Amino acid sequence: MAFDIEMIKKVYAEMPAKVDAARKTLGRPLTLSEKILFAHVHADYKAASFERGKSYVDFAPDRVAMQDATAQMALLQFMQAGRPKVAVPSTVHCDHLITAKVEAKQDLQVANMESKEVYDFLASVSNKYGIGFWKPGAGIIHQVVLENYAFPGGMMIGTDSHTVNAGGLGMIAIGVGGADACDVMAGLPWELKWPKLIGVKLTGKLNGWTAPKDVILKVAGILTVKGGTGAIVEYFGEGATSMSCTGKGTICNMGAEIGATTSTFGYDASMSRYLKATGREEIATAADAIASYLNADKEVYEDPTQYFDEVIEIDLNQLEPHLNGPFTPDLATPISKMKEAAAANGWPTKIEVGLIGSCTNSSYEDISRAVSLAKQVKAKGLSLKSEFTITPGSEQVRFTVERDGFLDEFNNIGAKVFANACGPCIGMWDRVGAEKKEKNTIVHSFNRNFAKRADGNPNTFAFVGSPELVTALAIAGDLNFNPLTDTLTNDKGEQVKLDAPSGYELPVRGFAVDDPGYQAPAVDGSGVTVAVDPASKRLQILAPFDAWEGTDLKGLKLLIKAKGKCTTDHISMAGPWLKFRGHLDNISNNMLIGAVNFFNEKTDNVKNQLTGEYGPVPATQRAYKAAGVGSIVVGDENYGEGSSREHAAMEPRFLGVRAILVKSFARIHETNLKKQGMLALTFVDKTDYDKILEDDTIDINGLTTFAPGTPLTLTLNHADGSRHVIQVQHTYNQQQIEWFKAGAALNIIRKQVAG
Ligand code: F3S
Repeated sequence: MAFDIEMIKKVYAEMPAKVDAARKTLGRPLTLSEKILFAHVHADYKAASFERGKSYVDFAPDRVAMQDATAQMALLQFMQAGRPKVAVPSTVHCDHLITAKVEAKQDLQVANMESKEVYDFLASVSNKYGIGFWKPGAGIIHQVVLENYAFPGGMMIGTDSHTVNAGGLGMIAIGVGGADACDVMAGLPWELKWPKLIGVKLTGKLNGWTAPKDVILKVAGILTVKGGTGAIVEYFGEGATSMSCTGKGTICNMGAEIGATTSTFGYDASMSRYLKATGREEIATAADAIASYLNADKEVYEDPTQYFDEVIEIDLNQLEPHLNGPFTPDLATPISKMKEAAAANGWPTKIEVGLIGSCTNSSYEDISRAVSLAKQVKAKGLSLKSEFTITPGSEQVRFTVERDGFLDEFNNIGAKVFANACGPCIGMWDRVGAEKKEKNTIVHSFNRNFAKRADGNPNTFAFVGSPELVTALAIAGDLNFNPLTDTLTNDKGEQVKLDAPSGYELPVRGFAVDDPGYQAPAVDGSGVTVAVDPASKRLQILAPFDAWEGTDLKGLKLLIKAKGKCTTDHISMAGPWLKFRGHLDNISNNMLIGAVNFFNEKTDNVKNQLTGEYGPVPATQRAYKAAGVGSIVVGDENYGEGSSREHAAMEPRFLGVRAILVKSFARIHETNLKKQGMLALTFVDKTDYDKILEDDTIDINGLTTFAPGTPLTLTLNHADGSRHVIQVQHTYNQQQIEWFKAGAALNIIRKQVAG
């Protein structure tokens, strides 16, 4: 469980010289993000190009974190790489496969039975290759990482898009696909496009009902789900330093919802307090010694517009609590405008369930502030009007809040405490009645609220808010309730007002935990066997993808032209499909089943051009594969938005789709496609999307001279014999072109190890 202090000391010992050299080369002050990036440029990276939004740079991250749903594929790939041990400290966290149904203990028991095979696989593969293993029930990856492994100035990658949460402790932490994790664990450089920089200056101080969550809800409203794409968001100002470390974590966590590469904060006293409270005084002392390198140069804070590509200023004194949603996390409504917005849009105002916790908001501070409201229920003669659930982020937090009597307070008002796991946040919520698909409203303190995300019901209107606001709304049971101004009627018929929440940044008596749920790996894992049953429905050893055949791709059938939003949830749904994350063939049966077919506006219903019949997307693609015909998927803007789920790239690759052609890509998904040897292409002229017809057969030309920066040409052969020739662009560099040619990046790693 121990954090690797020697590794951290090495990072800190080398950081000043690297940062000073970069400052000298650039001849200007540096932002914090730049300092961390420059401190982690891979030793073998020789080019001197660091152009924002343009240069691909090789990095050497300090750590890798993986959650169980994505770790399966990452580690199946790592097994293929042929290395005896991971090259950097790495951990696996079992949090995604536990269904929230009854309550923590019982739900955990069920998961331990249902997913035994997967947990056993992850435990043994971790044991063999030197990876720390956090058992089911130990907590949610991002909370456990913040409590144990994150450190100011570090760089981490993780196979989950909310890895960015560790920015709360001053890291550059980035969500990636399993293939990237596999590279870093194998000791290879990890490549990232040098990010743009967005500065967010926080003035004033949070007060009353306003919480750190409201900062990011506001930022999401300003920047939208695409606004952070390709950028690191760096927060600074008095509002930043006056906030708790875990509050900073919440803000960074939801940076994923604006598409940001990551978000971070400068090292300050709140981080030092948090490190000390979580048993890492040694790191705090080491960080204190180089504190100026763990913050931007002071000139940056004095005149941020000179150093950031975009600067946003938010006055925390004026910031109102927000609710974002439904169906998208960037639809931000201040609580004072909610009544109006709900009426104008016809949102159901009766709140069925309020859910707090998750990786985003389950710190001791969050729970203590929510409990200050729960205590008022009985004291003021009120009762809870909605169902109310809590998912603690870690066993350490759960144990501590139980010790401090908070769980009793929640139990007293009829709340349900789920396991320390993702549960409803990732769709693992066995919600009674969800199958009836009734229109209803829920409020939660999680991060995502795409349709069907929490309970699988497309008619659930999910709004995201701070844990304190969610608790107040669950007490009121009404979306129109504004706790800042409105009163509630109590059991005596009196009008009562909820007092503003209050809480503790850190537990006064310190954190405590009985069994944190950690398994250290074997010192020498060479004798450990990793068993995968060939008959398993949940795990499948990977076979390498075929190399490119060396010719242009002719006669590709259009599989689907997806209309509108097509997130990784649409491409590879979570929920019930999570159980197949280690079995590529089985999980491929969910490929693109959530995408809307442009031609009939239906999901999972496309035309099989060989038979003329309509059918499910995966079955249609399997029919093309069986006939030896390649295919192409066409999509809209920000295709693949949402998560680092590499299955969304591997499934089409496995089933024989040859190219994904879209108006624009979400960064992680585009990289994942490249890693798997797939062609990720964008329209040069976005209106060419309209030229793609349902019965098109498409040729991709120019592959024999495939080169960075050079567009390719597509011929659209329409069913009536007419044709269109269009230009498509790509962002492949030479290395990535080699991945395409080899059939996948992993095919190259394997060759290097063998050679
Ligand atoms: Fe992710 Fe939610 Fe779990 S954002 S890590 S699914 S708690």
